[in-house]
Amino acid sequence: MRRWILALDISHWTLTLDVRLMEQPEAVREAFEQEFGRFARFRGAESAAFDGLRLADVETTLRELSDLRTRHTGKKSALANLKKQIGRAAAEERAQFAQAVQQLEARIAEEIAKVERALQDTAARLRTERERLDVTLPGRRIRRGHVHPINLIRQRLEDIFVAMGYTVEDGPEIENDFYNFTALNIPESHPARSPQDTFYTTDGFALRSQTSTVQIHAMQRRQPPLRVIAPGKVFRRDTPDATHNPMFFQIEGLVVDRGISMAHLKGTVTEFLRRLFGTDVRTRFRPSYFPFTEPSAEFDFSCFKCGGTGCALCKQSGWIELGGSGMVHPNVLRAAGVDPAEFSGFAFGFGIDRMCILLYDLDDIRLLFENDVRFLEQFD
Ligand code: DAH
Repeated sequence: MRRWILALDISHWTLTLDVRLMEQPEAVREAFEQEFGRFARFRGAESAAFDGLRLADVETTLRELSDLRTRHTGKKSALANLKKQIGRAAAEERAQFAQAVQQLEARIAEEIAKVERALQDTAARLRTERERLDVTLPGRRIRRGHVHPINLIRQRLEDIFVAMGYTVEDGPEIENDFYNFTALNIPESHPARSPQDTFYTTDGFALRSQTSTVQIHAMQRRQPPLRVIAPGKVFRRDTPDATHNPMFFQIEGLVVDRGISMAHLKGTVTEFLRRLFGTDVRTRFRPSYFPFTEPSAEFDFSCFKCGGTGCALCKQSGWIELGGSGMVHPNVLRAAGVDPAEFSGFAFGFGIDRMCILLYDLDDIRLLFENDVRFLEQFD
């Protein structure tokens, strides 16, 4: 008796369970449809659903769709759970239940696939559009840069000296007292040391005021015999005007060997100027004073414009002043560790910007430092 009641009970319980079981696929479908609703507008590939969508939007939607698929068909989904229940369903209802679950699964898969295809087609179309190449468009011309006029002249000067057997030497733009002054035999009291003339850093270094500093570096580095030129920037506390700029360029020359004399200096400077301006050019040396040379001379060359008869460029003098020169002072040789009893040398230096102004017939040095491309473009 007791057993019968229990059996009835169980069958009643099974029945209610089965009714609910048959309702479940419908509930799962509804949950899916609800979430899937926002993707439904993408069902047809050709529809206006994609108008205005950017590729990034389409790609994001595709990712979201893939998340939705995982949620609704993945291992932990309500659908997977339904599939597990097929085996447990009451025998008389199992087939019907299984069929409902299968249909549901197919429907979900198909809905997702339809939208996915449409989105993928659209993404492909947008990608092609982005990569579209109009081969009939004119090419874009590459804008070529220009070598700065100062560098054009520097290269010309270097070429001449290199052809004459010189090496191009470099040195720092920030120097200590030794290289900028002491080794160059510039006395403590010399006005060039004054902060009114030379720029100093707060910790006492000088921005080099002349490329002559490289003479010392070159001798220390190479030891004679040597033949070097050193082009580079120099700095002086000048107010900019048509002929001055606080930063400008110089080129230094130094030859140290046994038996070097003033004749070598004059021959070298003259030969250099002949190669630059032509064989008609004449040079002249005027006695002068520089602390690092003895004897010292400034040198001029005959005006390349009028040939020496006098014109506006040479201020009617027929001569153009170029630079300073002389025989390297024994104190300078000694400071660089060179024995003046064995070696002698000559040195010279002049402004590259000044040479640039002369050669290009410019009337203001500041043009070279303003970096106005309308000016710079003219030097090709
Ligand atoms: N350094 C000098 C200046 O800036 C130019 C100069 C003079 C350089 C005589 C030399 C030299 O090498 O021997 O005015």
